[in-house]
Amino acid sequence: MSDKPIIEERENGPLVIKGLHRMVGPDGTEVNVKPVMALCRCGASRSKPFCDGSHAETGFESRGGTPAGRDRLITYEGAEVSVSYNPLLCSHAAECGRLASHIFNPAQKPWVQPDKGNADEVRAVVSACPSGALALAGEGRVEHLTAARAEVQIEKNGPYWVLDVTAPVEPSNEGASTRKYVLCRCGKSGNKPFCDGTHRDAGWRDDG
Ligand code: FES
Repeated sequence: MSDKPIIEERENGPLVIKGLHRMVGPDGTEVNVKPVMALCRCGASRSKPFCDGSHAETGFESRGGTPAGRDRLITYEGAEVSVSYNPLLCSHAAECGRLASHIFNPAQKPWVQPDKGNADEVRAVVSACPSGALALAGEGRVEHLTAARAEVQIEKNGPYWVLDVTAPVEPSNEGASTRKYVLCRCGKSGNKPFCDGTHRDAGWRDDG
């Protein structure tokens, strides 16, 4: 049997994660992990990141809502390297703009211009993109450049960034990665269990 950690989802309830050895909190410090943990995804727990049963009081529903964007893969061609992007998967962590705003800039059209930088810069951004929305594109497939280390990182006022943990449902959106994805913890995504960036537009805060 594989010893790869796994995340399961409880209907209208928390995410249950089993076998994880490393979880990093919103402040960058490691969270004490247990073999089995119930993580809040309704956004209302008073013991975040853990579930305290608040989902039952708030009437949280683990499906439904309107996805924030279409599930489609857009390719931005470059001479040396090309990039694919699915807006539905983007959690707006903005690692791309932080690392290479000359290539990834929403103020320019198109917003991704691979030839404004070099292949190493593009690869660094694809590697850092937590949601897998950005990937290298070529020959009919996409490449997410995912590091082999099982962990969950919790973004401040944002989703769970998951690396190399079996997902609660097989990621099936266009160009999605099975090894790198973001899970909603605000309760508002229209693409649950995955984050679709709604937390940012809703101004969700994890200290509420
Ligand atoms: S955490 Fe991103 S939509 Fe819920």
